[in-house]
Amino acid sequence: MMDWTTSHFRYLARQLSRHALLYTEMVTTGALIYGDTARFLRHEPAEYPLALQLGGSDAGELAHCAKLAEQFGFDEVNLNVGCPSDRVQNNMIGACLMGHPDKVAEGVRAMIEATSLPVTVKHRIGIDGRESWDDLCEFIEKVSGAGCKTFIVHARIAILEGLSPKENRDVPPLKYDWVYALKQKYPHLEIIINGGIKTFGECNEHLQHTDGVMLGREAYNNPWLLASVDSEFFGAPASTLSRHDALRAMYPFIQSELERGVYLTHISRHLLGLFHGQPGGRQFRRYISENAHKSGAGLEVIQTALEKVREPEPALIAEA
Ligand SMILES: Cc1cc2nc3c(=O)[nH]c(=O)nc-3n(C[C@H](O)[C@H](O)[C@H](O)COP(=O)(O)O)c2cc1C
Repeated sequence: MMDWTTSHFRYLARQLSRHALLYTEMVTTGALIYGDTARFLRHEPAEYPLALQLGGSDAGELAHCAKLAEQFGFDEVNLNVGCPSDRVQNNMIGACLMGHPDKVAEGVRAMIEATSLPVTVKHRIGIDGRESWDDLCEFIEKVSGAGCKTFIVHARIAILEGLSPKENRDVPPLKYDWVYALKQKYPHLEIIINGGIKTFGECNEHLQHTDGVMLGREAYNNPWLLASVDSEFFGAPASTLSRHDALRAMYPFIQSELERGVYLTHISRHLLGLFHGQPGGRQFRRYISENAHKSGAGLEVIQTALEKVREPEPALIAEA
């Protein structure tokens, strides 16, 4: 998620779940090819398993970037066919590509030829003007025909004329049954459902009909949810880690980021959700918001903010 799932957020997420697959922000092929490649692909091995999400439509450029994904150690390369922003539409990136399934298929085929990494596609169930079931099936058939086996489906259409990106994440109605129907019609494909999912109860319900679940906003706003993912879905023993432990485990990383010149706010804003709904959480967030932007602010801001939240006794952690 742009500006959200930065390396700093992913590092926090990885303290909480070893197994959840994490995704980068979308990076355009143009940025990777003509910009500072190493900066755009920067991540920590501690973040694995990690998928690189690309935005683009030129087959040659996508192939080149898929190779880069492999060279830089990513575990998967994903093509964004869901972003509705005007900026990307003008460059034939994102959801507008739902209207050009042949072009997506050509790009996916080129990526698959260029890399041994899994190549996956994240898309909508349609866009305005191409929102029928047949349109969706044509998209899936052409793109799977090019070799894509995994589709992450945001279960609402994108309205490219007249809605902002934010509205496009809430206004068009969710149609989970369409995603379930895709899995029924194409049982050989891996179908991952996305959109509006917040609880494990909802995840378990979706898993009756699909192969996987992707959480966006809830995982970011309430990252502690991730602390139970491994035991709930991956058969791991229940975690004994506390929120305090998770944050403290980030200190060496935060310190090394500060030492290479990263501003504390660029890191700390992704930590604000950790005490979501907890007593003291507001004081934690307030202390960071009031102090992290100050000149010379360092790790001590996070340490002091953490002291604002009472640390649970070890025996209470499981229930917290
Ligand atoms: C701030 C923000 C940035 C996003 N950026 C991306 C992106 O870069 N690539 C992408 O595929 N989806 C992006 N999305 C969409 C989410 O991945 C997801 O599809 C959408 O929010 C619906 O899922 P959710 O209800 O679980 O959040 C973004 C969403 C938000 C809120």
